[in-house]
Amino acid sequence: MKTYVITGGTDGIGAALARELFSRGDHAVIIGTDPRKGRRLQDEAASTPGDLTFLQADLSLVAATRHTLDRLTDQHPVIDGVVLCARFMHSRRTETEEGLEHNFALFYLSRLLLSYGLLGPLRNADRPVIVNVAGPGHDTPITWDDLQSTRHYDLVGAMFMTGRLNDLLGRSFAERHGDGPVRYVLFHPGTTATSYAGKVDPATAAYLRQQRARAKPATAVVPPLLRLLDDPPASPLTAFQLATELDVRSELFSAEDARRLSRLTDDLLARLR
Ligand SMILES: NC(=O)c1ccc[n+]([C@@H]2O[C@H](COP(=O)([O-])OP(=O)(O)OC[C@H]3O[C@@H](n4cnc5c(N)ncnc54)[C@H](OP(=O)(O)O)[C@@H]3O)[C@@H](O)[C@H]2O)c1
Repeated sequence: MKTYVITGGTDGIGAALARELFSRGDHAVIIGTDPRKGRRLQDEAASTPGDLTFLQADLSLVAATRHTLDRLTDQHPVIDGVVLCARFMHSRRTETEEGLEHNFALFYLSRLLLSYGLLGPLRNADRPVIVNVAGPGHDTPITWDDLQSTRHYDLVGAMFMTGRLNDLLGRSFAERHGDGPVRYVLFHPGTTATSYAGKVDPATAAYLRQQRARAKPATAVVPPLLRLLDDPPASPLTAFQLATELDVRSELFSAEDARRLSRLTDDLLARLR
């Protein structure tokens, strides 16, 4: 039985993946905020050969993410894969109680903390892999002097820019740990009918309803994700849109930009100790 940690595993793509993993006999450790969703999946897992553990955590908070990391590393000495899916959309710029822009905190910072924080148990696995499910390869410019969108915020722009930060996180991780066993994969699922968790205005809600009606189901994203977990790519960093590989040698995944972002993020995190 292999162990996979899935953030945002209570709904959407993460939940579809968790179902497949426990149905085939693996252990899915899912993280989300809603205990009812966690219990429902635990009930489903009870009649399967696998296992499901639900951890309740608000990963938009650095303190809660650090606490969750402590629980994960205490309870799971070996982790075979980490799949990062947690995401929450805000039409209006929102700050967490730690004073960080919510999208930046959840969609980027928690993924960085989990990627580096789970290195220990990942290194104990045979072929460990981190799959960061976001939107790799988008060419939205990065507003370097305003990563948390204080001057101008719109939902789509903030999400795309934070997606780019995840691309650079992948590059930094590979630069630092590429000679180790953990492979880093950036994965774009394409438009998929999920819960689209968020607090959005009526126009955005209507748009998301239309998208959901036309989109493929979350189960359609599971086979390409499983392939990456079962047979991780050989290169330290790769990116995929479903099964199609993207070129990570492009400027969008620049090592120099990745180092610049790491410096800014390290400074920020040092202030949140
Ligand atoms: N769906 C698409 O069309 C699409 C397209 C491109 C990329 N993606 C990427 O695919 C990934 C998964 O998206 P999805 O559409 O499957 O997601 P989703 O259905 O909206 O589900 C979001 C998940 O994130 C969790 N979550 C939200 N806020 C959280 C918080 N503060 N702390 C911990 N967990 C939190 C939710 O759990 P609770 O409900 O328990 O809080 C839920 O499990 C995302 O990274 C997204 O960027 C999706």
